[in-house]
Amino acid sequence: MNSGNAQVIHTVSELVSLIQTAKRSGKTIGFVPTMGALHDGHLSLMRASKAENDITVCSIYVNPTQFDNKDDLAKYPKTLDVDVALLNTVGVELVFAPSDTEMYPDGMDYVINVDLDEVDKVLEGAHRPGHFEGVVQIVHRLLEVVQPHHLYMGQKDFQQFTIIQKMIDNLEMPIELVVCPIAREDHGLARSSRNERLSAEDRGRACIIYHTLNEMKDDIHHLSIDNLLTRAELRLSWSWTELEYVDIINGNTLTSVSKVDDQDYLVAVVAVWIGGVRLIDNLILYKN
Ligand code: PAF
Repeated sequence: MNSGNAQVIHTVSELVSLIQTAKRSGKTIGFVPTMGALHDGHLSLMRASKAENDITVCSIYVNPTQFDNKDDLAKYPKTLDVDVALLNTVGVELVFAPSDTEMYPDGMDYVINVDLDEVDKVLEGAHRPGHFEGVVQIVHRLLEVVQPHHLYMGQKDFQQFTIIQKMIDNLEMPIELVVCPIAREDHGLARSSRNERLSAEDRGRACIIYHTLNEMKDDIHHLSIDNLLTRAELRLSWSWTELEYVDIINGNTLTSVSKVDDQDYLVAVVAVWIGGVRLIDNLILYKN
């Protein structure tokens, strides 16, 4: 195991000055934005950044503007000391843990003007009003501050990284987005800070999500989309589940598809409540 002593920075000015110095001496910067409560999934992003950059910056900031539910924001775990200890196990160099005023010096009430081709309106966007405006706002601000060469995000938030890629393209930001595979627990449940809120029983039951996604992948060339979705809905309908959506989408446009034939990139996506916890997951069915 690598180990190190990450430098924890709370102000934009200090971070900018450290990064400028590093860049002047030719160092590359990898950046992993997080909201803390770190787990193995986050650490896999840190490792990917460590492997490809001289300096890895991890931000830990619970961004108020992306919460559509105030209760969720209030309950969000804040575990900076534990997070920094974990980041030290993988040798992250810089941890940026800013306050609200550092992130939003002119207030939180503004919108980043960027054409997202409607990919923010479907799926999570349709179920969590205002969520992606908040994500775009904070990631834009963080990228402005960190100015990394590489940005690391997880495939688990499929729509999130698609939107951020659109923002980077649209605003011509000189940053390469690297998407890392979903880290999973032993029985397939996608790693998430929310898993900690599941009872042991519900955590076991939640593996039905990965099972259902895999079943769709196995049969994508044998059954119609309608049949695949009907079966998936059935699999995810129990007294202990509340299904929000399950769908098969085009991986570029994020729109629902009705036929497999003419598609080059298909992804199955799901959002389901188990034991009062909202879980999302996805699986690439194929990509040509
Ligand atoms: O995925 C997350 O944890 C957050 O949405 C992000 C990208 C750190 C922005 O607050």
